Amino acid sequence: MALIKDILRTMDYGPSPEGSEHVRVWLKEHEGGFGHFINGAFTKPGDLFDVFNPATGERIARATQGSPADIDAAVASARKAQAKWAALSGFERSKNLYALARHVQKRERFLSVLETIDNGKPIRESRDIDIPLVARHFYHHAGWASLIDSEFPGTKPVGVCGQIIPWNFPLLMLAWKIAPALAGGNTVVLKPAEYTPLTALAFAAMCVEARLPAGVVNIVTGDGATGAALVAHGGVDKIAFTGSTEVGRAIRKATAGTGKKLSVELGGKSPFVVFEDADLDSAVEGAVDAIWFNQGQVCCAGSRLLVAEGVAEALYAKLRARMANLRVGDPLDKSTDVGAIVAPAQLERIQRLIGEGEKEGLEFWRADDLLPDRGCFYPPTLVTGVEPASVLAREEIFGPVLVATTFRTPDEAVALANNTRYGLAASVWTENISRALEAAARIKAGVVWINSTNMFDAASGFGGYRESGFGREGGREGLTEYRIADEPKRKPNSAKPAPLSASPGLVPAGEIEHGYLDRTAKLYIGGKQARPDSGYSYAVVDPAGREVGLAGLGNRKDVRNAVEAAAKASSWGAATAHNRAQVLYYVAENLSARADEFARRLSAMTGASARAAEAEVEASVRRAFFYAGFADKFDGAVHATRSRFVTLAMNEPWGVMGVVCPNEAPLLAFVSLVMPAIAMGNCVVAIPSANHPLSATDFYSVLDTSDVPAGVVNIVTGEANALAKTLAEHDGVDALWYLGDAAGAAQVEALSAGNLKATWASGSALDWPKAEGREFLRRATQVKNIWTPYGE
Ligand code: NAI
Ligand code: MG
Repeated sequence: MALIKDILRTMDYGPSPEGSEHVRVWLKEHEGGFGHFINGAFTKPGDLFDVFNPATGERIARATQGSPADIDAAVASARKAQAKWAALSGFERSKNLYALARHVQKRERFLSVLETIDNGKPIRESRDIDIPLVARHFYHHAGWASLIDSEFPGTKPVGVCGQIIPWNFPLLMLAWKIAPALAGGNTVVLKPAEYTPLTALAFAAMCVEARLPAGVVNIVTGDGATGAALVAHGGVDKIAFTGSTEVGRAIRKATAGTGKKLSVELGGKSPFVVFEDADLDSAVEGAVDAIWFNQGQVCCAGSRLLVAEGVAEALYAKLRARMANLRVGDPLDKSTDVGAIVAPAQLERIQRLIGEGEKEGLEFWRADDLLPDRGCFYPPTLVTGVEPASVLAREEIFGPVLVATTFRTPDEAVALANNTRYGLAASVWTENISRALEAAARIKAGVVWINSTNMFDAASGFGGYRESGFGREGGREGLTEYRIADEPKRKPNSAKPAPLSASPGLVPAGEIEHGYLDRTAKLYIGGKQARPDSGYSYAVVDPAGREVGLAGLGNRKDVRNAVEAAAKASSWGAATAHNRAQVLYYVAENLSARADEFARRLSAMTGASARAAEAEVEASVRRAFFYAGFADKFDGAVHATRSRFVTLAMNEPWGVMGVVCPNEAPLLAFVSLVMPAIAMGNCVVAIPSANHPLSATDFYSVLDTSDVPAGVVNIVTGEANALAKTLAEHDGVDALWYLGDAAGAAQVEALSAGNLKATWASGSALDWPKAEGREFLRRATQVKNIWTPYGE
C-alpha cells in the first residue's frame, strides 16, 4: 500500500469525480430542446443547435437559434418592462437582486456542475471561483440598487440593454452584465455564447423562482447572427459586449451614429513580469493561475511571461517541474487542474497558432504525456526564447500556452510589457514595493496585479486599455456604464460647419505672405506656430459675410504632426497635479488679463453683443479656474475587495486626446473641453470651431505665456469633419471627443474602430455656460485598478 508521505510527494491519487446526476436529470427533462426566455417564460423550442460537453464530445442539449423575430420579441418585452422596473424604489430592485444572489447560492453545486459539463472547465474552478463570484456580483449590485439615487445623482437608467457574452466564464459574464444593468434600473436582452448557453438558461428559470418581474431579464440563445441582430435592433439603448477584438470592432462600426451606448471588453495578451528579486516559487504558482486557469481561455490570462535574464533558467526549471504535476483530464474530477478546451474550433485555433510558432524554431515544452484519449484537450505548454515579433508573442492564443521572453533592465521589462496592441491586465512579481508600483504605474493596462494574478471582485472595475476595449465592469466605475444624464433632450448643434475648401476667401500661401500677413492665423503644433501643410488659408467671416481674418486650412499631415507633438509631450501626464493646477491657473490669469481683446474678437466673429462676448470670456476664465482647482482633486479610490488586498483605482489620463469643438461658444467650448483634458494629464490635439476659429488661434499666446509645455495643447484649424476623420483613424490618438453634427459624430464612432479608441461623439448642443463638472474629468480619464497584497 502506498504510504501517505509518498502520495504527498507524487500527488498520485485516485479519481474523485463530482456527482452530476442532478444535472443529468435536468438535461433529460429538457431533451426536447430549450426555447428562449422572453417576458418571464420559456418559448417553444425553435430551430435547434447542438450543445456539447467538450470533455467527452457528447451532445448534452439542444438550444434554439435566435432569429431576428425572437430578438424583436425579447426587446419588446424588455421595453415594456423597463419603465415599471425603473420606477420601483431602489429598495425594491435591491430585494430582487438579493433574491437572485440567494438563489445562485442555493444552487451553487448544480450550477458548478452544469458549467463544467457545458464548458469543460475543472469543477474546482467553477465551484470555487466562477459561481461564488456570480453570487458575489448579485449581492454587490443589490447594494448598488438601493444606493443608486443617492450615489448617482442627476442620472437615470440607459433603458434596454443588449448584452452579448462569451463562453469562457458563461455564468460569471452573465452576472457581470445583468447585475449592474438591473441595479441601474435597466432591463436586458442577453445572448449567451453558442458553445455554452446552459447556465444562462438555468439562470432564466431562477429568475422565475425568484419572482423577478417578467421582461426585466430576457435570454435569447444563438450564434453570432443572433448577436448581430441584437446589436442592430433599433429598440436597444446600449450594447455591452465581451468577446473577441474582431467582433468588438464590428459592433463599434454597427452601432456608430445610432446613439447606442457601448462598452466592449475584448482580447488581451497580458504580460506576467518576473523581476530578478521575485519570490520564484510564488511566481510559479502565479503562472499556474495566470495561464493554466480555465485552460488559458481567459481574456486577461498572463500569457506573456517576461522574466529577468538572470533568473530565467531557474524559473523555467521550476515551471517545467510544476507543469509535470498538473493534472489534465476529466473536468468533473475534483483533483483536475486543467480541463477541456471549449470546442474543436478553439482547439484547432490553438493548434494553428502553435504550428506557426513551430515554424519559427522556438523551444517548446509540453506536459502532454497524460492527455485523455478523447475530448478536446490541449496540454499545458511553455515556449521559451520567444522574440517580441513572434506570432506567439503578439496573437491572443486563448489556450494553455505560456510564451517566455527575457529582459535585462526594468525599463526593458516595461517596454516589452507595453509592446502590444492590447492592455487588459498585467501581473508584476518582485519583492521590492517601489519597483512593483513603478511598473504598475507605467504598464498600460486596466488591471495590474502585484505578486498575484487573476484576482477579481465585484467591487473592483475590470476592463481594458487600448484594443482591449473601453468601459469597466464592476464597482462604481462599472455602474456608470448603465446610467446616463437625466436631462431634457438636447437640441442638435445648430451652426453647420461651412465647407471651408469651397469658401470664397481661399488664399494661396504666397499671397498670405504679402498682403495678409498680420491677419493670418497659423496652426499651433509642438508649442510653435506652423504654416498649414496645404499652404492654404480660409476666410473667417462674420454673420454678414465680411471677412474678419484668415485661418490656416489644416489637413491630415498637420493632424499627424500635431499627434506626434502631443505624444512627445507625454511627461505632462507624469507631472504632479499641483504642477498642472498652477499652469491652468496661469492660463486663466493670462486670459483674464486680455479679456477685452478676446471679447472684441468674439463680437467681430460671431456678431455677439459686447455684453454677451464679455460674458463668454468671463465664463471661460472661470472654467479654466474650475479645472485648475480640480486638477489635484479628482481622486481615485481604494476598493473594498478581497481580504489582504489594497485595490487602488487610479484615474489615469488617456494619453493623446483629440478634441473637436463645436461652432457654438467658440471660446467657452474650447476652454471647457481642453482644460479638463489637460488638467487630468492628457496632451491634446484640438480642432477649434471651424466657422469661428480665431478665439482659439488668439489663445496660442495665452498658452505661450502660461508655461504650458510645448505639445500639451496643439491646435489645428480647418474643416472640422475632415480633421476629425484623421483623428478618428489615427492609432496614436487614445481618446476622441467630438462635438459637432450628427453625421460627423457617426463618422467618428465608425472610424474609431481601428484602434478601438474611446469616443465621446455627439451632434447635440451642450449648454456651455453650465457644461462643467466631474463628468468631463471622468471622460478625460480611464481607471486602472492595482491590486496590492499585504501580509505574509
Ligand atoms: P466571438 O467574439 O465570436 O464570440 C463572443 C460572443 O459574440 C458570442 O456570444 C458570439 O455568438 C457573439 N458574436 C459573434 N459574432 C458576432 C457579431 N457579429 N455580432 C454580435 N455578436 C457576435 O469569439 P469566438 O469566436 O468564440 O472566439 C474567438 C477568439 O476570440 C478566441 O480564440 C479568443 O481569442 C477571443 N475571445 C476573447 C474573449 C474575451 O473574453 N476577451 C472571449 C471569447 C473569445
Ligand atoms: Mg458546450
